[in-house]
Amino acid sequence: MITDFSKTAQEVLLGLEKTQHQFWNISRPTALFLYNLIKNEGFTHGLEVGTSNGYSGIWLSTALKSNDGKLDTIEYYEKRYSIALDNFKKCGTADVVTIHPGSACDILKELPDDFKIDFAFVDANKRESIDYFNLIHPHLRVGGIYTCDNVLSHKEKVQTYIDAINSHPDYRHVVLNLPAGLSFARKLR
Ligand SMILES: C[S@@+](CC[C@H](N)C(=O)[O-])C[C@H]1O[C@@H](n2cnc3c(N)ncnc32)[C@H](O)[C@@H]1O
Repeated sequence: MITDFSKTAQEVLLGLEKTQHQFWNISRPTALFLYNLIKNEGFTHGLEVGTSNGYSGIWLSTALKSNDGKLDTIEYYEKRYSIALDNFKKCGTADVVTIHPGSACDILKELPDDFKIDFAFVDANKRESIDYFNLIHPHLRVGGIYTCDNVLSHKEKVQTYIDAINSHPDYRHVVLNLPAGLSFARKLR
């Protein structure tokens, strides 16, 4: 196991994997990929859309914290973000995580111009993927990475987003063959 995780955090993650389908969490291979990506790239400000019970957020926030960074994460379902907050506390990352309760598009529209991130992970309403992309794009720094889960498992629902990012001159995009299909793009300019 990875050294950044306390014994408690490792136990929390293993426990959450037992209810993975109930909370629609990402797979462990996807989580490990994102964790290593953040560490290797040295990213310091991540934005997640779709917190659920915090499973992915624990991986993201642990990697960001080890880079002296922070995570903003959005969730509209109160029962889920309260569980997530407890999980971040247990795993020692609550101090670097801000949970934004509410509807993703509403929150993204309200972000100030100077809200800048170097990493985005989108995992909420699949049909709104195109809206999240358009709203997050101005906040992503050049050189940053934009990711979106379920692009193979929910191909039809995300097609508009896939077409948009494939043809966007500012991004170099690939779909990675991780369990649900991960859209992965670097902002080039
Ligand atoms: C697939 S789950 C996220 C799983 C989480 N990323 C993980 O791997 O642990 C999607 C979450 O997005 C939330 N969600 C869906 N549409 C949303 C919206 N429009 N605004 C805010 N949250 C939303 C759902 O309540 C759900 O908890």
